[in-house]
Amino acid sequence: MGQPHQGEAAGVEAGFVAGPGAEAGLASGPRLEAGLASGPGAEAAGATADKPTLGVGMVGYAFMGAAHSQGWRTVGRVFDLPRSPVLAAVCGRDASAVRAMADRHGWAAAETDWRALIARDDVDLVDICTPGDSHAEIALAALAAGKHVLCEKPLANTVEEAEAMTEAAEAAFARGQMSMVGFNYRRLPATSLARKMVTEGRLGALRHVRVTYLQDWLVDPEFPLTWRLRKELAGSGALGDLGAHIVDLAQYLAGEPVVGVSALTETFVRERPLPGGASSGLSAVSETSPRAGGVGTVTVDDAALFTGRFASGALASFEASRFATGRKNSLRIELNGERGSLAFDLERLNELSYHDHTEPGTHAGFRRILVTEPDHPYLEAWWPPGHGLGYEHTFTHQARDLVRAIAAGRRPEPSFADGLRVQRVLAAVEESAEKNSVYTPIAV
Ligand SMILES: NC(=O)c1ccc[n+]([C@@H]2O[C@H](COP(=O)([O-])OP(=O)(O)OC[C@H]3O[C@@H](n4cnc5c(N)ncnc54)[C@H](O)[C@@H]3O)[C@@H](O)[C@H]2O)c1
Repeated sequence: MGQPHQGEAAGVEAGFVAGPGAEAGLASGPRLEAGLASGPGAEAAGATADKPTLGVGMVGYAFMGAAHSQGWRTVGRVFDLPRSPVLAAVCGRDASAVRAMADRHGWAAAETDWRALIARDDVDLVDICTPGDSHAEIALAALAAGKHVLCEKPLANTVEEAEAMTEAAEAAFARGQMSMVGFNYRRLPATSLARKMVTEGRLGALRHVRVTYLQDWLVDPEFPLTWRLRKELAGSGALGDLGAHIVDLAQYLAGEPVVGVSALTETFVRERPLPGGASSGLSAVSETSPRAGGVGTVTVDDAALFTGRFASGALASFEASRFATGRKNSLRIELNGERGSLAFDLERLNELSYHDHTEPGTHAGFRRILVTEPDHPYLEAWWPPGHGLGYEHTFTHQARDLVRAIAAGRRPEPSFADGLRVQRVLAAVEESAEKNSVYTPIAV
């Protein structure tokens, strides 16, 4: 029996794999279109006879595989969609494990080769939930085969791959195929509201964006060397994993690109035991005696800190770490403009803080907006005010926006071009860190 590390018991069993609670809970929602009384199978989620279906084929079936399954399974039952997603097939390399996952999450078929998944006639959209080393190859093949693509973040492991993917996505768009990147933190009602308030001009000229994304699952030096710690598989460490999210969120909320960075990166634990068993998401198992199976070199960063400049001249600071003891999934972002400020904390994800600096100083100050009203973004179909949403809903919202964009022939966001913009920032951070933090401009 191997040693469980960070989240294995609680995360994989209870958190990352959707349990029956979701079904029971959703079935009573007053604003929902339909209940969830169905079992597994290829039945379309929320299908009606007059609606065309959208066959989804997903590659990768662990952490994000479970999260995306939850989104695809739920979306058609909660939102009124022009097309009904069908969980057609899921792909993984272990035949019995992927079959078990398919049964548990409601996928009709299981494949062990992603090329076979792409070739299926019942797959209209390929959803890529694998580590970054396979994103480009799968996405390019799927686009070449005429499929729509949803690709997890970061878009790729290198700028070159991201450029090729963006070029292919643009060509495919002209043929009616849509491509989107899974930056799911855009899909929270509070972050969507923040974007709306920025576009309404409530912040005025932007001066600062301050953003941190902190986790602590790597603090234990005996945590094994999983794919996230190997550059050839993950591209980079905290930078590409957490940093990619906050760069995208910052650029999305600011509505403008980061045009240069100055960075520090560090790898605190440079050698780790080789994995002794399965790993999923942020959990892994090592040998009973952790180093019995040998050790390997960590080839990615454990933490990345960088400052940046936006095109408008606004200044930004970013911090991404897997060593912030006590911080589990702590994403905080604050924007300060000449007319006001906005602040969001993922640990209080139904709330948005807003300061209106045009109000008299005598009673101005940050106020908490509880983002649960039916006219807040995404909330028209969920619960009564005050009955908050959670992490998993971002994947339902992601599916909603993508299905609607496909049906409308509209370019979904974040596009592969948005993913490429993030990739360029990540590459500039690595370049700057290698050159003693020299300010490194980014081609926009
Ligand atoms: N949006 C988010 O919040 C978020 C969170 C975590 C991870 N991610 C991203 O999702 C992706 C997957 O991460 P994860 O946490 O789900 O990893 P994971 O280790 O939990 O799962 C990876 C899955 O990919 C499969 N896989 C790997 N190579 C494959 C191949 N060649 N063919 C078929 N299957 C293959 C594995 O068997 C496994 O099922 C990464 O790009 C990661 O950065 C996004």
